[in-house]
Amino acid sequence: MSEGLRLDLMEIFKPYQKQSQFLLSQARNRFFCAGRFAGKSWTLTLDVLFSALVYNQGAPGALLGRTESDLKNNLLPFLMGHLDTLQRATGYNWVRRYSVGDQCVELMNGSKIMWKGYDRISKLRGYNLAYIAADEVCWSEQNSMTIYETLLPAIRVPCRRPSFAIASSPNGLRGITELFRTKQLEGDPDFHVTRCSSYSNPYVDRSVVESCKASMSRARYEQEILALALKPSSAVFDQFQESKHVVSHDVLRHSDDCKWVFGVDWGISKAAAVAIQVLPCGRWVVVDELITHPVSRGHFRQDVKAFVKKWCGKKNPFLISADRAIPSENMWLAAEYGPGRTIVKPLETKKEQSVSNGIKAVQDLLAPMEGDANLVFLRSLSRTIKGDLAGVLPALQNYRFKLDREGNPTDMPYKDNITDHILDALRMAVVAGLHFPELHGGKKPMRLAIGSDGHSSAPIRIANIR
Ligand SMILES: Nc1ncnc2c1ncn2[C@@H]1O[C@H](COP(=O)(O)OP(=O)(O)OP(=O)(O)O)[C@@H](O)[C@H]1O
Ligand SMILES: [Mg+2]
Repeated sequence: MSEGLRLDLMEIFKPYQKQSQFLLSQARNRFFCAGRFAGKSWTLTLDVLFSALVYNQGAPGALLGRTESDLKNNLLPFLMGHLDTLQRATGYNWVRRYSVGDQCVELMNGSKIMWKGYDRISKLRGYNLAYIAADEVCWSEQNSMTIYETLLPAIRVPCRRPSFAIASSPNGLRGITELFRTKQLEGDPDFHVTRCSSYSNPYVDRSVVESCKASMSRARYEQEILALALKPSSAVFDQFQESKHVVSHDVLRHSDDCKWVFGVDWGISKAAAVAIQVLPCGRWVVVDELITHPVSRGHFRQDVKAFVKKWCGKKNPFLISADRAIPSENMWLAAEYGPGRTIVKPLETKKEQSVSNGIKAVQDLLAPMEGDANLVFLRSLSRTIKGDLAGVLPALQNYRFKLDREGNPTDMPYKDNITDHILDALRMAVVAGLHFPELHGGKKPMRLAIGSDGHSSAPIRIANIR
């Protein structure tokens, strides 16, 4: 790798076969398209090190995460871990300078690796780089093609392997994923894809993957575990089926053993709420909806109070969730229901508030990989849209994703101000409910995993096998 020193990096780091394939590819554009926990970030950070040590010695490169916190909590520990492994294998410290302030690490051979979050992508224009490595581009708030097109011109320092390397789980056949697929079909040698599922990583216990699978929708399993790039549907809830999800149900029969969950979408001109009876087995039955043009905030508070009372009577609801956007209303909820030991939980974190994450959580309940639907709707709910506000059933059928510039569905829903209010209320109830196993038949539900805030919340257990 440099004069007078020969090292077998593959022997030192021991990437598994698919990781090696990606690391050794000489294509200018490389995509490690892999499932959750497949070892994407581990590979991408090693790829940066290979560039700095072997291919592009002395040249500057960039490691990009979705956010600064993604870098700090996930990518930099991997990069530092790799440098540490290298030092232990060679007995030599390869780091000349490590500066958090300058966000870069310089190696003894003159290579410089800078790191940045691409959430402020415009700041990355104008850099002179030999290579770029970007993590989870398909799960960023930025459009993946915008990231690619903005950064590509920065790769202009002459070197042996100029490259744009991406590691990400696919998020539908669109954007950068679609570009790589088209180039693959054309046989373009400048584009390389290594695809592998979560099961490929021998360092992650198979049971971790299996436990995720059980509570994921089929589409989510195929995408996030098997790493299949699915053709996106324009219907947000295309797994919704009248025959499966609209049911006859005796609410009174379960009044003693159920838990009541409410979702509220505060609004000034339009507001909505859903009432959900959660059965001990973990089945969520949406039994009623409140959709209204409130005369004032005070009027809507009274409506919500009457709505809760109608279903719970003297019993306290288990959980009420709402958007945190209107703190005064949430304070009212907490004052009204908190003393009765109802959990009042506005969605706080960025991950909880992410619409795209919330939609996936609703889809998981609608169509889990294993077993029956866990989210169903009472047959008596309205089927028609009255005026300019839809009830939950017509809203589920009419909710659509926004289209991108090529006319393909994105992963953000189109807010038509008709269907979104009641579905926001439903989403908030579902997302808040993810914290409570008692609302999921005692099983720990699938927490929101991949979010644009750059954190992955599921704990990973590493198997002691090779
Ligand atoms: N070749 C390897 N040798 C040892 N450990 C590995 C290897 N590849 C991956 N791992 C380990 O597997 C785990 C998952 O890796 P990593 O975090 O890179 O996966 P990921 O696909 O980025 O996950 P996520 O989808 O959560 O972002 C980590 O603990 C990592 O250290
Ligand atoms: Mg990762």
